Amino acid sequence: MKGIKKLAFGTDHAASEIRNSVIKYLQDIGYDVEDLGFCGHTSCDYPDYAVKVAEMVACKKAHRGILICGTGIGMCIAANKVHGVIAAVCWDEDTAKLAAQHNGANILCLGSRVATVSEVCHRIKTFLETSFEERHIERITKIKQIEKRQCQ
Ligand code: RB5
Repeated sequence: MKGIKKLAFGTDHAASEIRNSVIKYLQDIGYDVEDLGFCGHTSCDYPDYAVKVAEMVACKKAHRGILICGTGIGMCIAANKVHGVIAAVCWDEDTAKLAAQHNGANILCLGSRVATVSEVCHRIKTFLETSFEERHIERITKIKQIEKRQCQ
C-alpha cells in the first residue's frame, strides 16, 4: 500500500520470546514488516539473519531494518559488514534517535536480554520516526570512504 514503509526484521533464538510482540506492535503503528525468519527456540547463528536484513536494506528493498539478538552486538557487527549499511546498537530512546539523526543509521540493533519488550518497541518507534540531519553528511561520507579502503 502506498505510504506504508517496509521494514526488514530479523532475530535469533535469544529474541524468540519477544519477536511476535514486537512485530505486532510495529504493524499496529503502521509498518509493513518483512519478517526474514528465525530458528524458533533452537540455537542459531545471528549472522545468518543479520545478512538477510542488511542486504534487504542495502538493496533498498526495505526502508530500514531491525535486528534483535541477546545484546544487539553480534547482529550489529555482522550487519555492518554489508556495504551501504550503517547499523547501531542503542541502549535507550535518546541513542536510538541520535543513531538515525546524526549517524545515518539504517538498521537498529537491540538486545532482548538487556531490555524489556516495551523498551525495545519504544526504541524502534523513535528510531523509525527520526530522519537523518543533512548537516552530518560529511562524517557519513568519510565512513563510506573507509569502507572502500583495502590493506596495502
Ligand atoms: C546468543 O546466545 C547470543 O550470543 C546472541 O544472541 C547475541 O547476543 C550475540 O551478540
